[in-house]
Amino acid sequence: MSEPSAVRGAEHILIVFCHPLADSFGARLLEEYTTGLTESGRSYEVADLYAEGFDPVFHAADYVQFEGGPLPQRLLEEQARVERADAIVVISPLWWLGTPAMLKGWFDRVWSNGWAYEFANDPEGSLLPLRPYLFLMTTGGSAGSFDRRGYADALDALIRGGILGWCGVSESSVVLLHDTGFDVETTGAHLDFARATGAGATVVDRAPSPDPARITVLNRPLPARTRRSPTAMDAQTAIRSYCDAWVAKDNAGIAQLFAEGGVFVDPLHERPLIGPDDISRTNQSAVDELDDVHIELFMVRGAGDCAVAEGRMTAKVIGGGALDFEFAMVAETANGLITRLTEYFDTSALQS
Ligand SMILES: Cc1cc2nc3c(=O)[nH]c(=O)nc-3n(C[C@H](O)[C@H](O)[C@H](O)COP(=O)(O)O)c2cc1C
Repeated sequence: MSEPSAVRGAEHILIVFCHPLADSFGARLLEEYTTGLTESGRSYEVADLYAEGFDPVFHAADYVQFEGGPLPQRLLEEQARVERADAIVVISPLWWLGTPAMLKGWFDRVWSNGWAYEFANDPEGSLLPLRPYLFLMTTGGSAGSFDRRGYADALDALIRGGILGWCGVSESSVVLLHDTGFDVETTGAHLDFARATGAGATVVDRAPSPDPARITVLNRPLPARTRRSPTAMDAQTAIRSYCDAWVAKDNAGIAQLFAEGGVFVDPLHERPLIGPDDISRTNQSAVDELDDVHIELFMVRGAGDCAVAEGRMTAKVIGGGALDFEFAMVAETANGLITRLTEYFDTSALQS
């Protein structure tokens, strides 16, 4: 397995923490991971499922989601936590080769129809913006036994494909921290790994290379999922949403407007960016460099799936300087997502 690369460039992290004991090894992992996050200057919030008394049982009332009814308030609050996060990190033990019932119930109840996915025969598709996901899971069993028995591959398919693949995931890594509790050297290495993962500029990229005898990283590419738009977006709306996302410095929001394979051509990038994952990754630094972004659209014209616009963008460049330039753009959409968006502007403005 290759090295982890999830949660790249994330700013605000939701940590879903699942353990009933305040003095568990999992709690120490959480402490190390959040210490690392603090060192890296990122913000985070913890959904401590046991401590907060989350009810993991999917009740009869939860079925309202399939009739378009409102979810219980508590679930709406959990969904709001997910919505404001740029990346989701789950810290949990592995119990009976799966998530504890508490964590399973959090997915059962919070990842609802009409919010996370559309209930349909065709299981492809998510309504959520794309976000990176990282699972840190402790296991009693060894890396060797997981490999020999095919458990690592099974967890890859079940967690990364079956659960995360359904729900607006750009990248995901499941990190199995083995031999938990059996040897001090191993558990110490896991704590170091958690801290380095939190402290890495990109959450996991600067983590030490995991020792394959103690840590299994599951992150090989999975087949791309189709992302569906809850409301069909025409090309004019796409242009306005694209500009709004720039003003909000919401790079994930920009990326999620694009179809898988949607092409984004912009003078800021040397090559066309293809699809939400590429856009989310490659455009992040451009968004990060700007502050006080304003966009005025002088003109937006077009009907249906093709529109053109002219406007002006101003922004402060963090670290010094300012941008002020006029632009034109052409957007094409299909099935409510951008299939091609091309921006034109004079790049000499960027040198000012
Ligand atoms: C109910 C239960 C089921 C478990 N099932 C598994 C399992 O299927 N595979 C495994 O490797 N470890 C299993 N374990 C061991 C835990 O994964 C291990 O004790 C835990 O990761 C240690 O971390 P903690 O001290 O934070 O709980 C299980 C533990 C419990 C309590």
